[in-house]
Amino acid sequence: MSVTDAARRRRAARLLDAEDARRAAARALPRGIREYVDGGSEGEVTLRRNARAFEETAFAPRMATWVDQPDLSTKVLGTPIDLPVLTAPCGGMRLVHPDGDLGLATGASRAGTIHVASSAAGYTLEEIAQVDGPQWFQLYRFSAQSTMENLVGRAQEAGYSALVVTVDTAVAGFRPRDYKNGFSYSMRVNARNAVKLAPQLLPKPAWLTRYLLDGLPFEIPNTAQVTVDGKPMVLTEMTKGGVGSHSPTWSDFGWLRDNWHGPLVVKGLITPEDARRAVDAGADGVIVSNHGGRQLDGSPATLTALPRIVEAISDQAEVLCDSGIRRGSDVLKALSLGARAVLVGRLPAWGLAAAGTAGVERVLENLRTEMVRTMRLMGCAAVADLDPTWLEAR
Ligand SMILES: Cc1cc2nc3c(=O)[nH]c(=O)nc-3n(C[C@H](O)[C@H](O)[C@H](O)COP(=O)(O)O)c2cc1C
Repeated sequence: MSVTDAARRRRAARLLDAEDARRAAARALPRGIREYVDGGSEGEVTLRRNARAFEETAFAPRMATWVDQPDLSTKVLGTPIDLPVLTAPCGGMRLVHPDGDLGLATGASRAGTIHVASSAAGYTLEEIAQVDGPQWFQLYRFSAQSTMENLVGRAQEAGYSALVVTVDTAVAGFRPRDYKNGFSYSMRVNARNAVKLAPQLLPKPAWLTRYLLDGLPFEIPNTAQVTVDGKPMVLTEMTKGGVGSHSPTWSDFGWLRDNWHGPLVVKGLITPEDARRAVDAGADGVIVSNHGGRQLDGSPATLTALPRIVEAISDQAEVLCDSGIRRGSDVLKALSLGARAVLVGRLPAWGLAAAGTAGVERVLENLRTEMVRTMRLMGCAAVADLDPTWLEAR
């Protein structure tokens, strides 16, 4: 093990829980990147609502029950996993740490679970697919039909086992913190803006050194080979007026269902009506998500929306859930309300910021430890046994 690896492992070992990881990430990252990860859209109402819903949901434990080793394993769309927590697709992770998406995929694989690679990843989908372990690919519609066809074809070729289609990003949500920090997907540190960004970057010399050694990455390599009007497409194309939608509409699903030869998952639903539409459009699974409170501010908390969606479609498709999960107890609450598994976005991003791949491994290990301890305290022997009777009736 190299000196750097040993130092990262030591840093990772100090992260006791999500709050520790968030604080360590805040110490490591320049303000613009920290707030890009942590922030939500508009008044951040949905961001807070997600957290509150988990806090306000209480367990109905079964005491005087001895559970030795609770079973956390499950199966998602045919893939067995040891931990019912997937790492969510997150763009911009190579800015957080050079390990970026490769670190997320490695961490997920070592935890015995699935990584969902983002369209807006800092490495190409082919590079991420090289990491051992099951992986899904998340699709943004971007602009031209040809972009979607390019990404779907390459994801199939690269061996991703499921396609996750994000539908809650008709336009990018307005995140005031990003605006104030001068952060945008098209930002790049260069001679022109270095002076403006200096007050954010100079106080974080370790981050800055890693960023420079990594070759100042800030582009979306998955779209670099795709051309729009004869020129390489940049991510800003997706939000430019007239170029097209940033998320697919239901009319795209005919093409997607015919051309993706594996499980299709719709991410970003919050109502039972949309969940039924997804099933009608051929989805094998849905992810109940409000994008971690980063898109439509005013969306309900996913934990609140989950039961009605489970009731509407769980006999036809698998239901997963994300947004606001910070602790093992949060995972157990979502599973009790019928989610097959959950996804975490910011939590592994914080681990990554704090200690690279080792930090991702650590936050997932913490979730596992928290789940085991909570299940023993609840008297629950297996995640497969969870249902709403494990929660206090409201
Ligand atoms: C920094 C960041 C970048 C994200 N990028 C994407 C993305 O590229 N594609 C996508 O479908 N969702 C993206 N999301 C949303 C996550 O997949 C996930 O829905 C959300 O983070 C879950 O909430 P949590 O962060 O509270 O766990 C992103 C989230 C964050 C925090």
